[in-house]
Amino acid sequence: MQTPTASEDHSTIHHDFTSEIETGLLAQSASISPKFLYDALGSHLFTAITLLPEYYPTSTEKNIFTQYQAQIAQAVGTGGTFIDLGAGNCQKAEFFFNALKPSAYVAIDFSVEYLQEAVKKLAEKYPHILMQYLGMDFSKQLLIPSSVATTKRTFFYPGSSLGNFLSTEALTLLSQIKGQAHAGGLLLGVDLMKEDSVLIAAYDDPLKVTAAFNLNILRSVNTHLGSNFKVEQFRHVVKINHAEHRVELYLEALEDLTVSWSGNSKSFKKGDLIHTENSHKYTTDSIKQLLTNAGFETTQIWTDPKDYFAVIYAH
Ligand code: AVJ
Repeated sequence: MQTPTASEDHSTIHHDFTSEIETGLLAQSASISPKFLYDALGSHLFTAITLLPEYYPTSTEKNIFTQYQAQIAQAVGTGGTFIDLGAGNCQKAEFFFNALKPSAYVAIDFSVEYLQEAVKKLAEKYPHILMQYLGMDFSKQLLIPSSVATTKRTFFYPGSSLGNFLSTEALTLLSQIKGQAHAGGLLLGVDLMKEDSVLIAAYDDPLKVTAAFNLNILRSVNTHLGSNFKVEQFRHVVKINHAEHRVELYLEALEDLTVSWSGNSKSFKKGDLIHTENSHKYTTDSIKQLLTNAGFETTQIWTDPKDYFAVIYAH
């Protein structure tokens, strides 16, 4: 078995996210970047979300992958380097290993501890695939290290993770992918706009798993910042922003309160909101347009019968 390698040791770089969190909290409209949702517990809570019957994106994407696997493999082609953006437990990528037969698999995620375990297990199962993993925050910049082969790079960005980005940020990321794909391309999954009731059920589920996932960001922030947020002083709020084509997640203060951390503090009035996530929803036309603007020349799209979700291969 080949031991998976940590590419260029990005996994050991200690990022200082303190100032990023502080800036967001101290702003007039407070916000916390959604990447802080994914600490160890948050990553597990997200996995639980994907198992909820109300959270249609994961199951719908899986159905599209299964139904059109041969067509997708035909479009993507076999061999080359399969680069998984936001790999998590690596399950979605593994689904394509037999059909796409990559020579190398590069798993990239913000949360490297979770990733490392998953890649180790995969390396035992697929000894003929060279495995690399990389801890990276590509929300600011995507820079694939030179240790990753340039022959036919297929970027894999499923699960509508692109939806976290504003359209300008999404355009930047997609352009960076196009610029580093060489002869390869991008296999993308994005969520499509649909009726409010379906979105609300998916993002404010009756078991309150999404509420726990959202509230947990405060504990994640406490760990990074040394702040003293109390989860019980907030509640999970979901809004549909039709003008911006997105679902918005917030935490609403249930009382007047002050949060403090070394050298600083922030007061919230009852009813004040902290914005924690945007989840943008596309149309097949809007995502095609975005990909064209990013420099991709052709797109092939697969959807489900209800047009809830779209899988795209662009190159
Ligand atoms: C991982 C960003 C695709 O927006 O649906 C799920 C995150 N937030 N439930 C999404 C999420 C609340 C998810 N993405």
